[in-house]
Amino acid sequence: MSEQNNSSALKIAPNPRINRDKLTYFICYERAAFIDARPEGLAMAAKSSCLNHNCPPGFWRGVPQHWMMDWPSPFPIRLKSAKGTIVTDLDGNELVDLCLGDTGAMFGHSPDAIMRALNGVSETGLTAMLPSEHCEFVGRKLVEVFGLAYWQMALSASDANRFALRVSRLISKRQKILVFDGCYHGAVDETVVALDDNGEIIAKPSNWGAAFNPALNTVCVPFNDLEALEAKLKSRDIACILMEPALTNCGIILPEAGYLQAVEALCEKYDTLLVVDETHTLSTGLGGYTRSFGLEPDIFVAGKAVAGGIPCAIWGFNEKVKTGLENARANMAQGHSGVGTTLGGSLLAMAAIKASLESLMTREVYDDMIASASELEAELAAIIAEFDLDWSIIRLGARLEIVFSKLIPTNAKQMRETFDMELEHAIHLGLINRGFLVTPFHNMLLAGPNLPPDAIKKYGQAMRQILENVV
Ligand SMILES: Cc1ncc(COP(=O)(O)O)c(C=O)c1O
Repeated sequence: MSEQNNSSALKIAPNPRINRDKLTYFICYERAAFIDARPEGLAMAAKSSCLNHNCPPGFWRGVPQHWMMDWPSPFPIRLKSAKGTIVTDLDGNELVDLCLGDTGAMFGHSPDAIMRALNGVSETGLTAMLPSEHCEFVGRKLVEVFGLAYWQMALSASDANRFALRVSRLISKRQKILVFDGCYHGAVDETVVALDDNGEIIAKPSNWGAAFNPALNTVCVPFNDLEALEAKLKSRDIACILMEPALTNCGIILPEAGYLQAVEALCEKYDTLLVVDETHTLSTGLGGYTRSFGLEPDIFVAGKAVAGGIPCAIWGFNEKVKTGLENARANMAQGHSGVGTTLGGSLLAMAAIKASLESLMTREVYDDMIASASELEAELAAIIAEFDLDWSIIRLGARLEIVFSKLIPTNAKQMRETFDMELEHAIHLGLINRGFLVTPFHNMLLAGPNLPPDAIKKYGQAMRQILENVV
């Protein structure tokens, strides 16, 4: 399909305009500049030895999660505060945050509405394994915003995806699931897969301690390829498709016109449930991609930002899934279902998501974020033209991605061909040194609400300075 149309054209040496010697020098210089600006941060990093493997007892390498070591900087930035779209490190360096906790803080850091909700739970409690007074309001609001009729909560998007897969298997009485090459759905065993160069499913090489061979029950196909998808669904043994409506974890890969509607039709034809994971595509607009483009999934999942940064995820479902769950509960043996965790839907999460639905996930907030993202897109388009670069910009509401290719990739294989880790590294580090934090993975920017008025102009200046050094 589209892969054949574009793939040969995409196999060009990436970024011919970039001078590799200058790039290497630039990275060395920027690493030194990063360290110079952070004496306190360096002392802290040295103390916890996050710079080498001889770390003292305490947090391994000085970080609470190992992937906090994946930033392009010589050591992870240690934060003192985060408010709105600004983060401040231990040394007092302020950064405009276009990473926003890789979406967890999409609506800004420490939003006032969430902080007020936190004050409120000092009286009402944090967790009790009982529903709070907010259930009716939150449930109705979720229906209004996202369109699905029934809802449950979880602690994280990974959890909610795990539950969606279990429920799909339960209802369909089928064992297999289908995901797309380039996907990421969190720490969910069945989904840490990819296609190799021959188009065969493999456990991702980065996957630690895989519980089982994922090829046993997971099917993986390229995005935007209906033929490949139908060929797999035909066997009628696939419980559900789990997909982001646009892939966001391998760069942003948009669905081609009509693709998602065709996916829905294939699901109908082969009696396969459709689960959309909107954890990142929530950036598209109010109600996520689903509401913005009129999708009708059987199950909807979103996590990270839904409760303004408090651990919380939601999963919603339609009448068909509800009937299946009603039957399952009616016939349920005493014991554990494997769906739900103790802290999911806690009093704290319920108070936070209520505040988020009232004050953060609103039309006004989205309008502001999307306007900023459009401005960033225009600024980047001007820079690409000025420097005569073979780059494109892909935007999904408030989120955008720089792709190192003029042709826009339509699947993960094509996107991987555009990757240029050294250049990415240089841009990320150069931006940090000029006051901007972006995701450490690929070239994603997320525009939060109320960006400082001069932020986009300054971002443009920073990108121009970086490029002047490496072109
Ligand atoms: C689309 C998608 N789903 C699920 C997750 C997992 O989220 P969490 O790590 O909060 O469980 C991620 C994380 O990046 C994601 O991008």
